[in-house]
Amino acid sequence: MIVTKGFVELHCHLREPGFEYKEDIASGMAAAKTGGYGIICPMPNTNPVCDNVETLKYIQARAAQIGGVKVLPVCAMTKDLNSDELVDFEALHNAGAIAFSNDGRPVENMATFKRILQEGKRLGLVMMSHAENTEFSPFDNRSEYTAVGRELKVVEEVGGQLHFCHISTKESLELIRTAKKKGLNVTCETAPHYFTLSGRHDEARFKMNPPLRSEVDRLAVIEALQDGTIDAIATDHAPHSIEEKTRPFNEAPFGIVGFETAFALGYTYLVCTGKLNLDEFLKKMIDNPARIIGVEPFGRVEIDLDEEWVVNAKEFRTKAKNSPFEGMKLYGKVKGCEYV
Ligand code: DOR
Ligand code: ZN
Ligand code: ZN
Repeated sequence: MIVTKGFVELHCHLREPGFEYKEDIASGMAAAKTGGYGIICPMPNTNPVCDNVETLKYIQARAAQIGGVKVLPVCAMTKDLNSDELVDFEALHNAGAIAFSNDGRPVENMATFKRILQEGKRLGLVMMSHAENTEFSPFDNRSEYTAVGRELKVVEEVGGQLHFCHISTKESLELIRTAKKKGLNVTCETAPHYFTLSGRHDEARFKMNPPLRSEVDRLAVIEALQDGTIDAIATDHAPHSIEEKTRPFNEAPFGIVGFETAFALGYTYLVCTGKLNLDEFLKKMIDNPARIIGVEPFGRVEIDLDEEWVVNAKEFRTKAKNSPFEGMKLYGKVKGCEYV
């Protein structure tokens, strides 16, 4: 048994307001608690989009009413996530937005992206990028790394802090490694599925964006976790309804759940295999993500490292009852979480 600080989740989707049939703030917070999280940062692709103070306040108030896990919402960078009209960064920041992202969609207009970074620099904000070049299929590595490349050019020109979400390819990691060596203020996260799974799978429970990559990419992700190119492990917990995820692969939405398997996947695939020691792994779950958003970790988690368990999504607290990890035997079970 070990006791640690609560995990810090930089990137998840709670779906409320607007898509409560997929997840709501209460079910998402319950799943986060089961997974050992003390702090979670939900992305703004709700309906309405969290691009305004009123929606931000609604999420904060609902989370406070439920209590437990600390919920620190990420607000949109542009109105409705699909426009070139910037949000009121200053008002949202003052109302408690922890960071800004259009996650779910990329910002592809580099003139707009530049204005976003300039505002970020001026106000000292954390920008989080869903880097995707939609000229390519998401299943082509170029969709990720050409977007990472063009965004890094803007960071080099403007400055400011940029965090890359869900990095999955070898080429993107090489670009970020080089940018860090140059001294740019960039960080990145990967998700457990990118260091545990690879290849094509035709069931929708394996469908997420960015998608699973090749074995070469999976190994490059592990190497980048080892050398510090990847700062943090975030789940991109992205629940969808059972009906949506039992559709054929091509008709199902992108997104898988992650809160309730993240620790055990990291422990089993990174620590038990000797790729990282326990302390290094915990830094990517707690201290590094906390540093990126400038907060102190929160909560206290008890974990039984020796417990062996089999993933059964029907037992999850999230509303989404399927997972690419179904039936997997994992080590390390979160036994309890306290929020004091
Ligand atoms: O898999 C994903 N799901 N990728 C995204 O970029 C969006 C997310 C979602 O909101 O479902
Ligand atoms: Zn994304
Ligand atoms: Zn996401």
